[in-house]
Amino acid sequence: MPAASSTLIIGASRGLGLGLVRQFLARGRRVIATVRDASRPGPVAELAGADRLRVESADVAIAESLMALRRRLEGETLDILMVNAGIGVTGREDFAEAFLACMRVNALGAMDAVKTLFDLVGEDGAVGVMSSQLGSIANNSSGGYEPYRASKAALNQSLRSFAAEHAQAKVSFTCLHPGWVQTDMGGPQAPLDVETSTRGVADVLESRLGQRGDAFLDYSGQTLPW
Ligand SMILES: NC(=O)c1ccc[n+]([C@@H]2O[C@H](COP(=O)([O-])OP(=O)(O)OC[C@H]3O[C@@H](n4cnc5c(N)ncnc54)[C@H](OP(=O)(O)O)[C@@H]3O)[C@@H](O)[C@H]2O)c1
Repeated sequence: MPAASSTLIIGASRGLGLGLVRQFLARGRRVIATVRDASRPGPVAELAGADRLRVESADVAIAESLMALRRRLEGETLDILMVNAGIGVTGREDFAEAFLACMRVNALGAMDAVKTLFDLVGEDGAVGVMSSQLGSIANNSSGGYEPYRASKAALNQSLRSFAAEHAQAKVSFTCLHPGWVQTDMGGPQAPLDVETSTRGVADVLESRLGQRGDAFLDYSGQTLPW
């Protein structure tokens, strides 16, 4: 991996994505962080270590936005490509609309980001996507949040397929569960704070550098059943 490699976090305006950027900057890494509109970067631009930070625009639900990002990143080598962007559900929305929106962003959008940017990932690099334990089919005995669960299960399945199709690549592929975290999505009653979760997720991603194959891991490095 070139010394000047960068860690790319897709979806870094707030919550866990912002926390991951803070973690990786604190570890001395060069970070590329995306928000939907880099002309209005918000809190990510105020982080300590921002001299090693490049803020870019990307909307994972818009293919041209991801292709434009790929063109702007020409010449970069990524050590970690982490797709964090995602949306949740309240359970009170129209079911079909919620289902399609979750699939569009959490499954198709996240995988479009992986596929569009994968060729920038260097040897011994790590690809991660922010999944959820709610995407585990094996662990689903309670139901609820069906559009969200289905989209994260689809994301896991798609990343496994992509990993199998790129088994010769010297890169690891990881679906991550961050825990239940106090963010806009997780709500104030969640047991974990952003710092604790993202420190764990950053540790797990760094542990996957130099590894191969796929895994479904939580923020403490525990394996989850698919
Ligand atoms: N919090 C939890 O307890 C929890 C648990 C399991 C999994 N997760 C997963 O962790 C990830 C981050 O969640 P969070 O809790 O930090 O949620 P959050 O506070 O709601 O933040 C969501 C992030 O995703 C971005 N995003 C949403 N749609 C996007 C799109 N189309 N293109 C680009 N960026 C987009 C948002 O950008 P904007 O600011 O522009 O909207 C924001 O940066 C999600 O994938 C979520 O499913 C969270």
